[in-house]
Amino acid sequence: MTDLAHQSDWPSSKHALVRDAILSMLDELDVGDALPSERRLAASLGVSRPTLRAVVDELVREGLLLRRHGSGTYVAEPKIALPLMMTSFSEDMARRGMKPSSRVVSFDVTTAGAKLGQRLNLSPMDEVWVITRLRLADDETMAIEWLHAPRKLLPDLRREELASRSFYDLLRERRGIVIAKGVQTIEPTVTSLQEAELLGVPLHAPAFLFERTTESEDGRVVEFVRSVYRGDRYRLVTELRPPRR
Ligand code: GLP
Repeated sequence: MTDLAHQSDWPSSKHALVRDAILSMLDELDVGDALPSERRLAASLGVSRPTLRAVVDELVREGLLLRRHGSGTYVAEPKIALPLMMTSFSEDMARRGMKPSSRVVSFDVTTAGAKLGQRLNLSPMDEVWVITRLRLADDETMAIEWLHAPRKLLPDLRREELASRSFYDLLRERRGIVIAKGVQTIEPTVTSLQEAELLGVPLHAPAFLFERTTESEDGRVVEFVRSVYRGDRYRLVTELRPPRR
């Protein structure tokens, strides 16, 4: 029989202890601060360099540390804890004291067709906006969103407006349409070449894929959105409650 605790690739308790020690060290450091060199850190924690390296690699993968080749290891920006609620990107970022903005990558009108028509509750010949936005917070890339919305909701929408304005705000201000509820799916994914280039992350970087269909208070479907959120900048938070009986 194999004793798992003695397999070399099984996270040992030493690994967990070193991890805890580094995590408490991170509490004392600021974003962008450098970690001591691997040699010094291994010596001060009394562990071998391979053990230390395995822990640091893990924290880099989790996005807590950032490794710059030839330079060292640094404290990364904390991830944004995204509550799974019916909010807009702009609202979420503003609540965190960050400035939301968008780069409108493409801005088109097309006919809905069968599938999108069904999703948006439109006839296949109805016009829809198909808009790609790169979403930024304090000028840092966060997500890409492919928005599909019935054109009749905002027939005169202009490309420039979406660079600085919230789609949900425009719906409310111009048409009195208030977002009420939606259905969202979340899947893990990795970035494609195009996504990686837009987001400025490596190819095949971890990311979250969201698909959301949103309804207004008066029961109209206002959007179908596919979005890719950076996995190194987000973690998802859900509040858990007992099921309703
Ligand atoms: C979130 C949602 C999208 C929605 C967007 C609106 O990111 N995932 O479905 O379209 O917010 O954001 P804003 O109102 O900032 O344009």
